[in-house]
Amino acid sequence: MIRKLLLYTLISGLFVPSVFSRDGMWIPSLLKKYNIEEMQRMGFRLTAEDVYDINNASMKDAVVQFGGGCTGELISGEGLLITNHHCGYGQIQRHSSIEHDYLTDGFWAKSRAEELACPGLTVSFLERMEDVTATVLQGTDTISNPVRKSDRIRLNSGALEREAANGGKFRAMVRPLFYGNQYFLHVYKIYTDVRLVGAPPSSIGKFGGDTDNWVWPRHTGDFSLFRIYAGKDNEPASYSKENVPFKPKKFLTISLKGVETGDFTMVFGYPGRTTQYLTSEGVNLIMNQRDPDRIGVRDIKLEIMDRYMKKDPVVRIQYAAKYAGVSNAWKKWQGEILGLKKNNAVAKKQQFEAAFKNWAELNNLWENKYREVLSGLQTAQTSYAPFARASDYYAEIVNGGVEIFSLAKTIQDNLKGLQNQKEVTSEWRSALLRQVGRFYRESYQPLDEELFDRLLPVLNSKVDPSFLPEQFKTMMAKNTSATALSAFYQKSMLADSVRLLALIRTAKADKLNKISKDPMMILNSELRKKYEEEIQPKVVAMEAGIEAGMKLWMEGIMQLEKGKALYPDANSTLRVSYGKVEGFMPTDGVLYKPYTTLDGVMQKFNPAIEDYAVPPGLKDLYDKKDYGRYGEKGKLPVCFVASNHTSGGNSGSPVVNFNGELIGVNFDRCWEGTMSDVMYDPEICRNIILDIRYALFVIDKYAGAGYLLEEMKLAN
Ligand code: ARG
Ligand code: GLU
Repeated sequence: MIRKLLLYTLISGLFVPSVFSRDGMWIPSLLKKYNIEEMQRMGFRLTAEDVYDINNASMKDAVVQFGGGCTGELISGEGLLITNHHCGYGQIQRHSSIEHDYLTDGFWAKSRAEELACPGLTVSFLERMEDVTATVLQGTDTISNPVRKSDRIRLNSGALEREAANGGKFRAMVRPLFYGNQYFLHVYKIYTDVRLVGAPPSSIGKFGGDTDNWVWPRHTGDFSLFRIYAGKDNEPASYSKENVPFKPKKFLTISLKGVETGDFTMVFGYPGRTTQYLTSEGVNLIMNQRDPDRIGVRDIKLEIMDRYMKKDPVVRIQYAAKYAGVSNAWKKWQGEILGLKKNNAVAKKQQFEAAFKNWAELNNLWENKYREVLSGLQTAQTSYAPFARASDYYAEIVNGGVEIFSLAKTIQDNLKGLQNQKEVTSEWRSALLRQVGRFYRESYQPLDEELFDRLLPVLNSKVDPSFLPEQFKTMMAKNTSATALSAFYQKSMLADSVRLLALIRTAKADKLNKISKDPMMILNSELRKKYEEEIQPKVVAMEAGIEAGMKLWMEGIMQLEKGKALYPDANSTLRVSYGKVEGFMPTDGVLYKPYTTLDGVMQKFNPAIEDYAVPPGLKDLYDKKDYGRYGEKGKLPVCFVASNHTSGGNSGSPVVNFNGELIGVNFDRCWEGTMSDVMYDPEICRNIILDIRYALFVIDKYAGAGYLLEEMKLAN
């Protein structure tokens, strides 16, 4: 027994190393069961129902998933929402031109009428979430065939989703947790008229740029403001002048009191994806193959984009959001590799696996069960590796990367639609014209040509030849230099926008169909065919195999950790993370304070470096120390860090204090802890938060948009 206990603490120690479980992305509807007591011990004064309740307005009603991949929160009774600058970046860019360069100069709507519509942008409110494991698994225990089993699960889930959608009023989704050991239903209401209200200039909202991205100490005013509009009945409605500001059930009160080391913090948002429970081979694959492969391709992309963006301001605007996107993950993966190495992640996982084996042996679960589960998983990861490699290079180069391939795909898809029509309709023409026109507006051919010249040889050399189509290999053998590849590109009809657009406008069906004979069209379709027919299905099957293994492995971990609350990996559903304001020791002998001030902005200020430019208005306010009610002891707070377990998708998430008042907006993680998606270490993993006082200072003092504060509620 004693041995068992000892072993138990040893294994658990690998999972929950601190007195307070500062790690974890918890399920809001289960706080009452698992977390609220601990949260209150740490200083939280609200109840579980204040955070999540389906019968009364609760904090969850003030939090939205913003677009596909960020979070936002309501800060007024009139639909005003705050999120990150980098979350609104694509929208800000789309409204920008050389004449109205909102990226560079910022944007502030002076009245509701000036707020800018953002077609395609949505925000989703979670109505409720519910454990539906029993219903989803109904009738599955008698099915042994795994394919039929998952069919049944899909069928059961589909029925639940249809019912919950209530004839289209809601969007409902069933999602597995713990690799299918549990299932939750999520029901959303989606608003589609969302307008841009305000954004600081990039020299504030993106201060530090890609240089400081993922790094502490940080000085970025990473926020932007939007407003949700609804029909007169306060229900979702597509954009219309008649729409009115949405009245939320709940919005967050803002606290100007600031934070101190040790203060309780809670982050409420939509983390995207983490993989905390992988086996050692799974971790090995990420850090020694997948991350390095993708970093390598992106080194090239970034170098090319950067060069053209520096040469031409139009190209700079065109590629600003694309560059930021490519660079963001590229940098994170590098931090992730460093962190996993420094943390001996693979060795730690192996240690856990050895301890798990001991536990399983003691419980007679090794020989007849988990030995096979674990070794099966490890071999599955090894055989998955070459497919993952092919899939990563295709993803980085063909399905995203070389832009002319996406144009080719657009055309190909539209031509498919044409086949069932005798006459080319004007709808068909104008739809395609719109897509193709947008492509040409948003890309710059010389840049894309260079992506083509440099990335195709990478695809050719890094991916096993059996994963490449013959036509591509022949083409590469013929065109061995960049000049030859460029010539191939230029010869394509797709590289001649005038001719292509004219064709789409007027040509007859047979002539239009001939576009698919263009060498670039053929190259694209051969590559995609190879991927879709020979790589993707295998990747899907192998991933399903790994998932099935992970389900059993997870079940084992849950048994081993019985009695202890475990949190499921992030899956883009609403989660709560709690922790406290605290600095950390990134390396031996170095101690980071948990907050920064405007002084640091000025210390970094360098007019010769774009990332460190400071707008004159901000410098004036600094010189006069004119911080109004937003300063503290003569300094203006800018950012702070805390120990909340967050991930991509948590950008824009509200950070609230012990009273549930908004003290900041989450926007990043610290470099030394970026491995937290795979292995969280409470000693060094920190999330980076914009201090709400800096955001309000920028709105009020810098931009003179203080009228926006009138609709907010400040705590007294
Ligand atoms: N690293 C943050 C996140 O993952 C911020 C990214 C945007 N900032 C940038 N400089 N690219 O989204
Ligand atoms: N910047 C990230 C995002 O867009 C949040 C930071 C993180 O990855 O933790 O979601």
